[in-house]
Amino acid sequence: MLTSNQVSSEELVKIDQEKIWHPFTSLQSAPPIHISHGKGAYLYTHSGEKIIDAVSSWWVNIHGHANPRIAEALTKQANEIAHVIFAGFTHTPAIELIYRLLPLLPGHQKRAFFSDNGSTSVEVALKMALQYWSNTAKNKDHQRKKIIAMDGAYHGDTFGAMSVGARNLFSEPFNDHMFEVSFIPFPDETHFEEVLRQFQQLVAQNDVAAFIFEPLIQGTAGMRTYRAAHLDLLIETAHQASVICIADEVMTGFGRTGSLFACDQLEHAPDIFCLSKGLTGGNMALGLTTANAKIVAAFNSPDALKTLYHGHSYTGNPLACAVALESLKITLEEECIDNRARIEQKHSTFLNHIQLHSKIKDIRLQGTILAMELDTGEASTYFNSIREKIYPYFISKGILLRPLGNVIYILPPYVIKDQDLDDIYQAIEDFLNHEI
Ligand SMILES: Cc1ncc(COP(=O)(O)O)c(C=O)c1O
Repeated sequence: MLTSNQVSSEELVKIDQEKIWHPFTSLQSAPPIHISHGKGAYLYTHSGEKIIDAVSSWWVNIHGHANPRIAEALTKQANEIAHVIFAGFTHTPAIELIYRLLPLLPGHQKRAFFSDNGSTSVEVALKMALQYWSNTAKNKDHQRKKIIAMDGAYHGDTFGAMSVGARNLFSEPFNDHMFEVSFIPFPDETHFEEVLRQFQQLVAQNDVAAFIFEPLIQGTAGMRTYRAAHLDLLIETAHQASVICIADEVMTGFGRTGSLFACDQLEHAPDIFCLSKGLTGGNMALGLTTANAKIVAAFNSPDALKTLYHGHSYTGNPLACAVALESLKITLEEECIDNRARIEQKHSTFLNHIQLHSKIKDIRLQGTILAMELDTGEASTYFNSIREKIYPYFISKGILLRPLGNVIYILPPYVIKDQDLDDIYQAIEDFLNHEI
């Protein structure tokens, strides 16, 4: 039956509802929207409606849907080699990508390790950091094992990544199976001195292996921003105690926060970076973990047991690497840089216009991300009931905005047009005026 193109969209969605298990979605949720294609910042449904993708399809799509240059890079690579085992073999797209990317990262990154997504890039980073200490410790008693993360953190959904993330209602069924992590409070303006004091006490024990953080802005926690100067102090303190610093730039990388990488806004560079999402412009699944010379040196040994024994079947997939290379070229071009500045400027103008609205509790701007925390009379959590209202409201206006509880945020593809941004701002203002 499915070989015929006579099958209606309704019938296909019905099959989806019976057979497919969607991410972060209750099995009893409303039917999914059936997308037929995309172009630039737009998604088109099978019934012909146009939706502005104001969240870059989970923060990945930086250069717009069906980007012709990326499609061409993908096709060209598919005609050469689509996949090859990456142990003992290599290929030009991987080499060229890493050759161009490493010098762009802060902190003299020396080597890159491929994986499949943001979560796996974090798994690899944690393994690198823990094995660094196992490879360099004089004996087992000297081996550092503790990890520090931030309250509210989100680093992915595999077990290692979950372990360094916030314990919350989502993680509840798995909490007993996660490894122990020391969480410091979120370093916001009001009590940074206290956060720094706690951090200093933790690292003074000389048993902390690594400190992992989302630089400048915590995404899933509600697009919560914090000061570069504060992160700098934490990294400096960590480094003074020889603690390895891991920057999870899965969301923030590739121009999202106003600089190419969020850590470009810091004085102190981390030792390890986690990258994904914008890495391929949202076209192929790919993760990358990079490490500086200090980390790499601990693995550069004739002792086979000092090898990083980690890998995935699709590690270094040539299609994904070719696409990432083209995406990187576009990201570095003037037009894309101008687009990022344009979006930030437009966000800033809207922020000034709307910030005193009575329904806005807090408003935050970080590069191309604008987040508004709404005052709904309920606590600011992911489960704030306004969430149920926001999503369908904006879909009915032809805009994809997927709130984090009572936080509405705009995180658009860089190619979004001014008129589409204006339409999104107007729809948000209408919502604030009439729907809360
Ligand atoms: C900061 C951060 N790290 C890691 C991840 C996990 O990435 P993925 O969903 O590709 O596994 C995410 C995803 O939202 C993220 O925002």
